Amino acid sequence: MSFAKISGTGIYIPDKILSNKDLEALVDTSDEWIKARTGISERRILDKDKATSDMCYEACVQALKNSHTDPKEIDGIIVGTVTPDYMTPSVACLLQDRLDTRKIFAFDLSAGCAGFIYCLNVAKALIENGQAKKLLVVGSENLSKITDYKDRGTCILFGDGAGAVVLEESDEPGILSVCLGASGKEAELLYTPGGGSKDPNGYRFLKMEGKEVFKEAVKVIQSNSLEAIESANLNPNDIDLFIPHQANMRIIEAARERLDLPLEKCYVNIERYGNTSSASVLLALHEALNESKIKKGDNILFSVFGAGFAWGSAVIKW
Ligand code: UT7
Repeated sequence: MSFAKISGTGIYIPDKILSNKDLEALVDTSDEWIKARTGISERRILDKDKATSDMCYEACVQALKNSHTDPKEIDGIIVGTVTPDYMTPSVACLLQDRLDTRKIFAFDLSAGCAGFIYCLNVAKALIENGQAKKLLVVGSENLSKITDYKDRGTCILFGDGAGAVVLEESDEPGILSVCLGASGKEAELLYTPGGGSKDPNGYRFLKMEGKEVFKEAVKVIQSNSLEAIESANLNPNDIDLFIPHQANMRIIEAARERLDLPLEKCYVNIERYGNTSSASVLLALHEALNESKIKKGDNILFSVFGAGFAWGSAVIKW
């Protein structure tokens, strides 16, 4: 059996910055409150005339370049997103055309913030059982299009961005474990009731019971992380870098403490991007690599929790 490993990463971050100060003009909030309660200072906003696929395209081009892969070598594209350009066709199909790949399979997967980890699991299985050799695995969100900038409980949190990896066949283990879970009972604690950018009733906006989501996130990130560590036959102290979902600094801190991981083993960039849902851990992975925080042989733990509720943790060997 062959293994699957990440051979290149890429990201796209929109230029436009929405700062906490900017939000003070939109809702009853303050820079101090947002920083203290979430750890976020600013987030990125995609131009109105651009869409999720535009960000994915840029992230994929960079990931292909970094992995020295020609688009024609790619056997499939899987995109995790809750903000596709259209209800149908998928963002992945749009990418197939724009990246000028062969006429390979391409599909989107909806698992809220856990989208990328779910996609990673599917891609890993396809490679390990010989159905594909090289895949593009993407997480991208245009959350500003479904954020209500009159709701201070959500608009302070979310931002736009995209990340992509090339996952390929390898002789050495790369993705050591992936553990996924879901609980639909809590669906309406974090959901988007409708769609359509012209919807006059605001049903397209993301609605969230923040406090309830927060409590569950802390518990599940801990238990699901431990499950993934155990499934990789490792102990928490074997983890070299923890890349948690960047949803709230207090969730990250609580999870890190419960896992008994030291501060320097935890990667955080929430202050600059806020919560970018399925792009979140991809932005962090790419930046951690660029900052030389990851070296060959390191064990990296991802853990993500979000709408569904759906969650996933993965341990990879770099
Ligand atoms: O990616 C999916 C996962 N998502 C998450 O993990 C998000 C989880 N939730 C959160 O991050 C937090 O619950 C929030 C940041 C959304 C809210 O923080 P909180 O510490 O749970 O605040 P709270 O809702 O308990 O509200 C505390 C106080 C309230 O005032 P009173 O009742 O104590 O007077 C709120 O009205 O803070 C007030 N408040 C705000 N004040 C200033 C709530 N939002 C704001 C705000 N600015 N934006």
